[in-house]
Amino acid sequence: MSATDALLEENFTTADFEVVRRIAHEKAGIYFPESRSTLVFSRLSRLVRESGLVSFSAYLDFVQSPAGLVAMDEMICALTTNVTGFFRERKHFVHLEEEVLPRLAEGVRQGRRGRIWSAACSTGQEPWSIAMSVLSVFPEAPQHDVRILATDINSQVVAQARAGVYPDEETSAISAAQKARFMRTEGAASVQFAGPITRLPVFKVLNLNAEWPMRGLFDAIFCRNVVIYFDEQTRNRLWQRLADKLEYGGFLYIGHSEKIACARQCGLEQVLPTIYEKRH
Ligand SMILES: C[S@@+](CC[C@H](N)C(=O)[O-])C[C@H]1O[C@@H](n2cnc3c(N)ncnc32)[C@H](O)[C@@H]1O
Repeated sequence: MSATDALLEENFTTADFEVVRRIAHEKAGIYFPESRSTLVFSRLSRLVRESGLVSFSAYLDFVQSPAGLVAMDEMICALTTNVTGFFRERKHFVHLEEEVLPRLAEGVRQGRRGRIWSAACSTGQEPWSIAMSVLSVFPEAPQHDVRILATDINSQVVAQARAGVYPDEETSAISAAQKARFMRTEGAASVQFAGPITRLPVFKVLNLNAEWPMRGLFDAIFCRNVVIYFDEQTRNRLWQRLADKLEYGGFLYIGHSEKIACARQCGLEQVLPTIYEKRH
């Protein structure tokens, strides 16, 4: 730890931690238990140092001032956990390809639209995996009204997701045939999504705990590994809102350690441990 970090750590008081906890909860619905003080410090200390302000509390005052809007966005970004991967929880993609996409393709060929939402898309591996699944079942999708909405509260990861550039070493879950079909080499050790697949995902910054501008319904929603950071009330409200955004017969995919306690009230039926169908 550098001398500046050591000084800052002394400076990071319980009151500062309480302010961060309140902001994270109010702005993003993210709940930090008391045990997470060190984690919060390690995520924010660089921002405090770079701000040139003398203490954590001066930084927190600035972030909450009218001039601190950009700093507030940076702080929220720094507080999020963005771990993800291509075809994470492969069984969801198998289910999507077998149970959702053939029906979606048939409907779209008859003139309706096809919509899938990656509701906390992080750096984009999830929506790009969905796009590869869509094209494996429905190769003409880019010529039709088929879209994958990919959203996240973190504007920095959304920009990365949109660029679609990944280090080669992080693409081992993508087959050689898929790479040849959907990606091109970008620099010495990176690949980038290219060609018709880039017409499917639409990337936007969106807070799941704020208003949603979308009016239509979705054939499938991926909301995986995000509610683990929310408290129970925030979580249950979100499940209800997501269920309301699904077509009847549409599916909601959730993270491997998550469960929807209020499934029945939300009109959802659990069809596999982390897959729910909108029934009523
Ligand atoms: C662990 S990643 C999960 C990524 C992907 N869904 C997966 O399962 O691989 C969690 C993501 O949720 C996002 N997130 C946290 N709070 C959010 C909120 N209130 N609204 C939207 N996204 C949020 C974070 O920025 C982060 O990118």
